[in-house]
Amino acid sequence: MDHTYNLLLHFLFSVLITLLTLIASSSVSCYCRVDKNHETGHCSYQIQCTEIIKEIELDRKCLGSANLDVEIDVTLRNAIDTFHLDVDTDFLSKITTLTVLGNWPHTALPFLDSMPRLRNVFLNYCQMQKINNSPFRNLINLESIDLSHNSISEIDELFQFEILPFKMRKLSLAYNFIDDVPGDTFEALTHLKELDLSHNFIEELSEEPFCNLTNLVTLRLNHNKIKYLNGAVDKLVNLHHLYLSNNQIENIDMKSLKTIKHLHTFDISKNKIENLKPDIFSRHWEHFNNLSICRIILSENYIHSLPNASDFFDRLRRDSSKNQVQVLTQLDLSKNLITNIEYNAFQDIIKLDTLDLSNNKLLSFYVNSEHLMYVKYLNLSCNGLQNLYYESFALMNNLQNLDLSHNYLDYFPDETLSYSYKLKYVNVTYNDIAKIHNLRITFHSEGGVLDLSNNGLSALNIPDNEALGLRELILNSNNITDAYLIRLTDQRDLTRLEMSKNYIQELNESSLRLPAKLGYLDLSFNDIQLIRPSTFYRVSHLQTLRLSHNRIQSIGYGVFRGLTALLNLDLSYNHIGILDSKVLMDLKSLSVLSLRYNVLHTFDYNSWLVHKNDLKVYLDGNDLSCDWLAKALNDFKNGYSKMYPTVFDSKISGHSIDGVPCKQEIEKIAYKPESNYVMDDRLLITSQKILEAVKEQTSYLRKYLWRSILHDAALQSSAKNIAN
Ligand SMILES: *[C@@H]1O[C@H](CO)[C@@H](O)[C@H](O)[C@H]1NC(C)=O
Ligand SMILES: *[C@@H]1O[C@H](CO)[C@@H](O)[C@H](O)[C@H]1NC(C)=O
Ligand SMILES: *[C@@H]1O[C@H](CO)[C@@H](O)[C@H](O)[C@H]1NC(C)=O
Ligand SMILES: *[C@@H]1O[C@H](CO)[C@@H](O)[C@H](O)[C@H]1NC(C)=O
Ligand SMILES: *[C@@H]1O[C@H](CO)[C@@H](O)[C@H](O)[C@H]1NC(C)=O
Ligand SMILES: *[C@@H]1O[C@H](CO)[C@@H](O)[C@H](O)[C@H]1NC(C)=O
Ligand SMILES: *[C@@H]1O[C@H](CO)[C@@H](O)[C@H](O)[C@H]1NC(C)=O
Repeated sequence: MDHTYNLLLHFLFSVLITLLTLIASSSVSCYCRVDKNHETGHCSYQIQCTEIIKEIELDRKCLGSANLDVEIDVTLRNAIDTFHLDVDTDFLSKITTLTVLGNWPHTALPFLDSMPRLRNVFLNYCQMQKINNSPFRNLINLESIDLSHNSISEIDELFQFEILPFKMRKLSLAYNFIDDVPGDTFEALTHLKELDLSHNFIEELSEEPFCNLTNLVTLRLNHNKIKYLNGAVDKLVNLHHLYLSNNQIENIDMKSLKTIKHLHTFDISKNKIENLKPDIFSRHWEHFNNLSICRIILSENYIHSLPNASDFFDRLRRDSSKNQVQVLTQLDLSKNLITNIEYNAFQDIIKLDTLDLSNNKLLSFYVNSEHLMYVKYLNLSCNGLQNLYYESFALMNNLQNLDLSHNYLDYFPDETLSYSYKLKYVNVTYNDIAKIHNLRITFHSEGGVLDLSNNGLSALNIPDNEALGLRELILNSNNITDAYLIRLTDQRDLTRLEMSKNYIQELNESSLRLPAKLGYLDLSFNDIQLIRPSTFYRVSHLQTLRLSHNRIQSIGYGVFRGLTALLNLDLSYNHIGILDSKVLMDLKSLSVLSLRYNVLHTFDYNSWLVHKNDLKVYLDGNDLSCDWLAKALNDFKNGYSKMYPTVFDSKISGHSIDGVPCKQEIEKIAYKPESNYVMDDRLLITSQKILEAVKEQTSYLRKYLWRSILHDAALQSSAKNIAN
């Protein structure tokens, strides 16, 4: 696709959208838009109104007052809180879901009394400060109330009811100014499953307000000013998710969590916890459902030490192991100040699956490996580790994901990892490993990724039968000056190697000691000036070769010898001035060649005339003449040549043909109609089409435009992946 054409489409499309929006918004202002949805078999309406509700006709079959299946979802904007006085009471009495936006600092929500069928109420952004007279008291059918994003501070009388609202499941009071939750506030809401009090100013908690919420599953108290849990959640025997992040809690004790059962999420991140009591982990496993995951999130506190588990729980521990509950625990202790982890710190956690200790101050990690047997994800990134104790890892047979980045290791801890056979992803970036002579680790049978970038590494040797399963190796930003010192010839599973941002200057036929199966090789951002013939003959399966951002001035004959499978070649950002397509003749499968931002002035494509496949050549930022370009494009269009010159970002100003910029030679500066003709013609046709579209507003055209834009975007992004 022509990129100029794309740009134009995008521009004109946005104009179209703006026009359509203008038309739409001007037509809505004072009455209601009704969307019916009868597909489900009963009467269902979505009604959007502004200021008042009027002129709504319901279908006759939906009118009968006995019909309980009627679903009427009304959204009313810019409303006053007595809007109901102007509306037919019969209609109001049928509303099931109501969303109102208005501005009523003090209100008693009088309209609610006319809507006995109401199930869901959304009253957000209404600037409410005070709500008088228990306005929900007669709404027996209520299922959810959302009062979030107001300025409510008092809630004590708010949820009083004539009859207990036994269907009430969900209440949100988030983003208000609540600082106190009186004891009987939620007494009537015994069936509530979700309560959101987040983003308020609550300081003190006590048991009373929550003691009747025995069905509560999710409680959000995050972003408040709570200092102490004070047993507030003790009666919540069905609680699964407790969110307490962003408070000022200093202390979690047994009293606070006495009877919590089935807890799946315990998020107490971003508080002020300094000391972790040994009890905290022993609590969580007592009550679990089988096959559940428990997430304990303690990140961003001030914890400095993890104590041994206390012996007191030994008996309970043994009992629970008899039960064989299949619970997995994920523990996040990242972003604390931990310097010290005692040997048995993790003893009370059953099946620790994920352990995140990143961003702490650990100088060592010496713990009982028995308690880490189930760990799959271990993050030790951003600490001060200089070595890894073998003992800590000896039983970690399930480890898949190990992040050791940003530490001070000066060797690769392969011995430590010799009992982990399931490694999928090992990240050792930002350490101090200068040389590796052995890599005696085994990756997962599905293959593994090893990231060794940013280490100052200059030599790496992986002998035969080591690093089994290594599929992807990342050596970017190291100190590799001689590619010869990277010896990977026996790595039969290796398919992808990145050596970007190193200091390689020269490549010859003995430089690349890489396995034949390699499919992807990235040598971008080096100092390569010279590539000798047959450099790549050993890596004959290569499909992508990146040589961008080097200092290559010319490509000689035979450089690409053997690369018969290569599909993508990136030579962008070099200093190539002259290229003869003869040097590319070894690349029998080549389909994308990027020569962007070189200094190309002479490109002989004659050898490519008879080539088998089409070849896209990206040519942005070069010095090719318009004569050359016109001929190359013509040859392609007429089928003489298989090479298609194109650009990544098409150009609109300056000299260009089909969006590909070119240099006009001085003596031939005369106007060339056919060069710009193509583009202008398309512009005209496209804008005509779009104007018609605006007039008719047919959905067909909108679909057509969307499809072509999506299609172009997909094409463009796949080309980008290859060419960039
Ligand atoms: C709420 O709990 C208290 C004490 O647990 C009890 O006395 C009261 O009857 C309960 N209220 C309701 C509505 O269940
Ligand atoms: C923690 O437990 C280990 C192993 O039982 C023990 O060696 C160590 O002294 C304990 N630490 C403390 C502070 O009691
Ligand atoms: C939990 O599930 C596992 C595997 O499904 C089963 O072996 C075990 O008996 C179950 N335990 C309980 C307490 O239900
Ligand atoms: C490890 O933690 C760091 C810092 O918290 C984070 O950036 C990184 O993504 C984590 N690693 C993995 C593999 O999740
Ligand atoms: C390794 O960790 C660094 C940050 O510490 C991250 O930028 C990089 O993407 C990670 N490597 C892989 C392969 O994910
Ligand atoms: C890079 O390696 C060379 C030797 O190959 C060494 O002299 C130099 O100090 C190394 N630089 C760094 C930053 O490690
Ligand atoms: C090939 O390049 C290496 C550096 O990678 C150099 O040491 C060696 O002398 C070169 N061999 C030939 C034949 O040019």
